[in-house]
Amino acid sequence: MRQAGRYMKSYQDICERYPSFRERSENVDLVVEISLQPWNVFKPDGVILFSDILTPLTGMNIPFDIVKGKGPIIFNPVQTIADVDPVREFTPEDSVPYVGEALKILRKEVDNEVAVLGFVGAPFTLASYVIEGGSSKNFTKIKRLAFSQPKVLHALLEKFATSMAKYIKYQADSGAQVVQIFDSWATELSPEDFEEFSLPYLKQIVSSVKQSHPNLPLILYASGSGGLLERLALTGVDVVSLDWTVDMADGRRRLGADVAVQGNVDPGVLFGSKEFITKRIHDTVRKAGKGKHILNLGHGIKVGTPEENVAHFFEVAKDIRY
Ligand code: CP3
Repeated sequence: MRQAGRYMKSYQDICERYPSFRERSENVDLVVEISLQPWNVFKPDGVILFSDILTPLTGMNIPFDIVKGKGPIIFNPVQTIADVDPVREFTPEDSVPYVGEALKILRKEVDNEVAVLGFVGAPFTLASYVIEGGSSKNFTKIKRLAFSQPKVLHALLEKFATSMAKYIKYQADSGAQVVQIFDSWATELSPEDFEEFSLPYLKQIVSSVKQSHPNLPLILYASGSGGLLERLALTGVDVVSLDWTVDMADGRRRLGADVAVQGNVDPGVLFGSKEFITKRIHDTVRKAGKGKHILNLGHGIKVGTPEENVAHFFEVAKDIRY
């Protein structure tokens, strides 16, 4: 939950020297250096690959860029079946060899002291960028397609599902010990539509990965997921990551004992006093109870968060004894 290494001065310095996001995320040395920045300072229990959920798109013949101040931009948004045809299935070793190399180096650097985490975007969330042309507020383009030409959307989702299953396996084979799937925008769908346009593809990815990599833990995150929690667990993932709008005790109760939970301190809490941060961490851990829980924020750290408060979060977390 660090999408925004942007709160770190050391990351901002690198951005000045290398202004292109694509370069920062596609050059092995930079990927390794940026991935290690929070670990060097805060010593968390996990190191997250520096990349983006959109990184595979070029390899699927969907050119994009991430532009400062504007966010992701897809140059030729998908609108018709004729636009879906040229979308290629992803072959990670050919298209993003720098991801595999970076993961291998990261594993050596952290020497099994902590876990190395990879991640991918879920089919519906990737499709939302590719159809809307970038970030969206009201998701009208993807909904127009879903509700007037569902076959076109399904054809695209199928390509993403096959490709992301391959990508997860590639990341695991390269050194990732846990992989998180981001279905950030799944909650734009009604539960009924989630069952048609997201759930089957998430299930397909999870079952494909579990066949070849049965011991690789998979985490699933969706923003604002309170309305979908039980359905997220139906995907078969090992861990459901809760955003902060769900009470951790309610989340635990609704998901049951077999699913581990991750989260879910409001990233905004890191703007509070140290005492306040401490209290919220303890509340979250207490509410998660005795079952498996990865203590984390409920979404990415916000720009402007004081680094000393982030350090405090880790100090408090590491002092907790079960
Ligand atoms: O934690 C890490 O540093 C790992 C890297 C990471 C990034 N993006 C780097 C990044 C991760 C895990 C992501 C995930 C991601 N990317 C998601 C899912 C998480 C979520 O927020 O729900 C989504 C939806 C994206 C797509 C994306 N990438 C957006 C919407 C933006 C623009 C944000 C903005 O306000 O400009 C990005 C750019 C991006 N990806 C940044 C970072 C550090 C910020 C831009 C930059 O540093 O130049």
